[in-house]
Amino acid sequence: MFDLKGRIAIVTGAARGIGFASAEKLAENGASVVLGDVNEPLVQEAAGRLKAKGYEALAVRMDVGRNDSIREAIAAAVKAFDGIDIVVNNAGILSALSIEEMTREEWDKVLNVNLGGTFFVIQAALPFLKKSRNPRIINISSLTGRNGGFEGSMCYAASKGGVISITRGMARRLAPFNITVNAVCPGPTETEILKGYTPEAQERQRNVSLLRRLGQPEEIAAAVCYLASTEAAFVTGAMLDVNGGAYMG
Ligand SMILES: NC(=O)c1ccc[n+]([C@@H]2O[C@H](COP(=O)([O-])OP(=O)(O)OC[C@H]3O[C@@H](n4cnc5c(N)ncnc54)[C@H](O)[C@@H]3O)[C@@H](O)[C@H]2O)c1
Repeated sequence: MFDLKGRIAIVTGAARGIGFASAEKLAENGASVVLGDVNEPLVQEAAGRLKAKGYEALAVRMDVGRNDSIREAIAAAVKAFDGIDIVVNNAGILSALSIEEMTREEWDKVLNVNLGGTFFVIQAALPFLKKSRNPRIINISSLTGRNGGFEGSMCYAASKGGVISITRGMARRLAPFNITVNAVCPGPTETEILKGYTPEAQERQRNVSLLRRLGQPEEIAAAVCYLASTEAAFVTGAMLDVNGGAYMG
């Protein structure tokens, strides 16, 4: 357990999967959490589950592919909890098109959500992070961002590699404000996103890790909580691999 009492976290793509598990674990550790997601009914229900457990939680509709939506969500978070200390950039979409199948529309869509979303959420939250005592940015990249991936498309790999790159660049630029910026790079994890692959590709994903299993969302969420904690104050610009030993470069 970490002591996140009094800290305010916003998690994007928090209606399900790794985002929901992260919001839940942050709340278990004492944080007030804002769950942002483009799927409004699902995120309302998700926040309702946390509130029913007695946690401070707020659901906001948030499309990280649009700056107006990002700004509205950040404003709602600040209005509800009076600040932001922790930003978890988790919202992401998969693409499994081959090199030959790739279209400009698919390319732009995935880069816009996965990479553009990460950047512009940070931009919108920055004035509030600068006022925080223990500001944290945690970006969810991927094993794919490290090694180019196995079954995902090149636009997915480029988006996740881009997330690693801006994590490092922002760590350097935001260090003067004491804001730490880190990424978690999950290996294949048991969530809905894997259904974007063919059944054969899903089977291959299972065997990517040395431990011969998929990760669980809670195992990724634990890494998020560590990076959000005061104990991780001296960690910045780091990629935390949570992948059962699939990448050791
Ligand atoms: N599951 C894996 O194997 C795996 C591995 C490495 C990295 N990741 C990354 O983890 C993150 C979470 O993925 P997941 O596995 O939990 O998938 P998921 O599909 O279960 O959850 C993704 C969530 O993001 C939301 N979302 C999608 N587009 C959005 C947008 N434009 N704005 C706001 N919310 C949006 C979805 O509604 C959904 O609730 C993603 O960035 C993904 O790339 C997942």
